[in-house]
Amino acid sequence: MRILLYLGKGGVGKTTIAAATALRSAELGYRTLVVSTDIAHSLADSLDTPLKGEPVEVVPNLFAQEINVLDEVRAHWGKLQGYMGSMLRKQGMDKAIAEEMAIIPGMEEIVSLLNIYRAASTGDYDRVVVDAAPTGETMRLLTMPESFQWYVDRFNNWGDTAIRMTGGLLRRMMPSMDPLAGLPKLVDDVKLLQGVLSNPEITSYRIVLNPEKMVVKEGARAVTYLSLFGYPVDAAMVNRILPGVVSDGAGNARVVEPSNDPYLHRLQETQARYLAEIERDFYPLPIFRSGWSGEEMVGLPQLRALAASLFGNDDPGRIFFVGQPQEIVEEGDDFVLVLPLPNVELNKVKLTKRGDELFVTIGNFKRELLLPAVLAQRDAGGAVFSGGRLRIRFPMKN
Ligand SMILES: Nc1ncnc2c1ncn2[C@@H]1O[C@H](COP(=O)(O)OP(=O)(O)OP(=O)(O)O)[C@@H](O)[C@H]1O
Ligand SMILES: [Mg+2]
Repeated sequence: MRILLYLGKGGVGKTTIAAATALRSAELGYRTLVVSTDIAHSLADSLDTPLKGEPVEVVPNLFAQEINVLDEVRAHWGKLQGYMGSMLRKQGMDKAIAEEMAIIPGMEEIVSLLNIYRAASTGDYDRVVVDAAPTGETMRLLTMPESFQWYVDRFNNWGDTAIRMTGGLLRRMMPSMDPLAGLPKLVDDVKLLQGVLSNPEITSYRIVLNPEKMVVKEGARAVTYLSLFGYPVDAAMVNRILPGVVSDGAGNARVVEPSNDPYLHRLQETQARYLAEIERDFYPLPIFRSGWSGEEMVGLPQLRALAASLFGNDDPGRIFFVGQPQEIVEEGDDFVLVLPLPNVELNKVKLTKRGDELFVTIGNFKRELLLPAVLAQRDAGGAVFSGGRLRIRFPMKN
């Protein structure tokens, strides 16, 4: 069983690549489900077929589903929210505030994730490919299981007291009416879910990029936070590379066939620059590349061609990389950021920090990093490079 989750900035090609991955996987003989968790669905457009809240078989072995999260929250948790609201009102809270407070933050995210988890655990599918919403929302989605636990703990304590005070008798007489009955199961499911989402043998996160500045920055930030939360990233996919732009995969990208159009030529040069940057900054993740198609990327033949350009003959369900592209370890009061780096010549390491950006220079080698908030607050104390790893120390502020 594999879960593949594509994330990246708005419009980079997440839906298209998720659909192409699922199609290739199905054609290799794996029963594959592609699910969209984005409220602004476009999976149906990409596959060029109507979809529903339940899985629909598109071609043999390929199933697709667009989850309607808001409906699900209302259907399953509306009763709980109504109950919470009325309890808060009984305690003297203003109606509008009580109803607002009764909404557990992140319920939508939890419902989306549980849907994926349930699809994955039915045993009906060999693979589940997730077409996620743009990065910010997806990161929120992925950090939700932890904060959810915190809310539920409070809510549970409070709920027990309230029920003892007012509703104990009702609960004993009509257990089927108990609005809190589903909660312990939900809490257990969320725990299992988190186990699955952080298990590198099951789940892989893939960052979709285009060779342009803002996209690369947001992608780098996603890798930083996925690593911080222990979610396994196994690849970066660079989509929409212009014809004539090539790279050796080690940060040496260039324009081999410059366009006669000066405007396009400038774009090619810019793309080559960012492609090279991606190959350096996302090391040691494997990088997959796909070209900017002149045709509209809609329908199965186009998706098949995209899968071929990204994966060649490879199976997109394979685990492409094992390990953490970066790691934070605690040493006393200090934090140490550990980065695997390619074979750079041993030289003086220069660190420049600007806000949450860290620039690492070792001889000719340059790498830009986006620090998580916990490190951005501190100064970089110094760095040591040995055994293919750079260790950057962030001492406690005094
Ligand atoms: N390699 C490509 N060549 C040409 N067009 C592409 C390519 N990849 C994606 N597209 C087109 O770009 C548009 C955006 O792609 P897509 O919807 O997959 O992005 P997304 O990351 O899912 O966007 P959103 O963040 O809005 O969900 C679509 O019209 C798609 O058909
Ligand atoms: Mg999309």
